[in-house]
Amino acid sequence: MPRKIIIDTDPGVDDTMAIFFALKSTALDVIGLTTIFGNVHTNLASTNAVRLMEIAGTPQIPVATGVANPLTRAFGGPVPFVHGDDGQGNIHLPPPQGKPIEQSAPEFIIEQIMSHPGEITLVPVGPLTNIAMALRLEPRITENVHEVVIMGGNALVPGNASPAAEANIRNDPEAADLVFGAPWPVTMVGLDVTHKVHMAPQHLDHYKTINNALAQHVARIVPHYRNYFESSFDMEGIYVHDSSAIAYVLDPTLFKTEQWPLRVETEGFSRGKTWPSIGKRTRPDWENRPLVNVCVEVDSPRLIDMEIAAMEA
Ligand code: RIB
Ligand code: CA
Repeated sequence: MPRKIIIDTDPGVDDTMAIFFALKSTALDVIGLTTIFGNVHTNLASTNAVRLMEIAGTPQIPVATGVANPLTRAFGGPVPFVHGDDGQGNIHLPPPQGKPIEQSAPEFIIEQIMSHPGEITLVPVGPLTNIAMALRLEPRITENVHEVVIMGGNALVPGNASPAAEANIRNDPEAADLVFGAPWPVTMVGLDVTHKVHMAPQHLDHYKTINNALAQHVARIVPHYRNYFESSFDMEGIYVHDSSAIAYVLDPTLFKTEQWPLRVETEGFSRGKTWPSIGKRTRPDWENRPLVNVCVEVDSPRLIDMEIAAMEA
């Protein structure tokens, strides 16, 4: 049976690649998208998500709109220099035909997990505010979810949104500290591995040769995103963030993991840093925290081959 997943997303160019990767993977059943601020404002994330379902030919997959701001502060704003003003590489497509469902993202997450005990894998690839809200509204989702696989965080490497912190966590550190501290099975697919998954120009150019609407859309939106990486880092191509979380769900053997309790910095210039407590000594602020399955190494070539093979299928 395909594995049921909900993707909580701020599409976003790499979100789009991850969503299409999941849709093209027969081992997965995407039962819904929930949207959040981050790369764009939440309402635009929903518009983009609905349009992506139409482009993919799966307009029946529901999109539930999430909250507009982090738990304790106003949203700091989108990142058009990375994903475009439209969150789709500035190709400015017309609005979609459909619209999101009435149910909110936290309510959708709760209803799906509680009505399919043990079956749903939650894949957040944006800030964790919806997930934290769902936990607050219905703590029993911790006992009924199959697994939570998060793209976000940075355990042993520098951040990307700041020298200290990764973007999804920095956008709502309080939510992240709640999510990493809840008693449920969580895997963190952070910069420790996504900054080692490098999609080179030849991989990106290959999308243009894949004859389906999903790959062709990716080929249209990726140039703006690629330009950000090539003008910001000494590299060619892009790092693969959100698709790495989908790859973990499909094949955890792509990764080496460590199990550490995590805390998230919520104050000062390191706000958003995910701090593991490594070693046997108990540390007061990490006491009674659950172990998080933290990805620390990855087989990048095999992951990229898997994503491209899925897009070609
Ligand atoms: O730090 C990378 C993460 O931030 C990805 O999820 C990307 O889409 C942005 O949301
Ligand atoms: Ca994202």
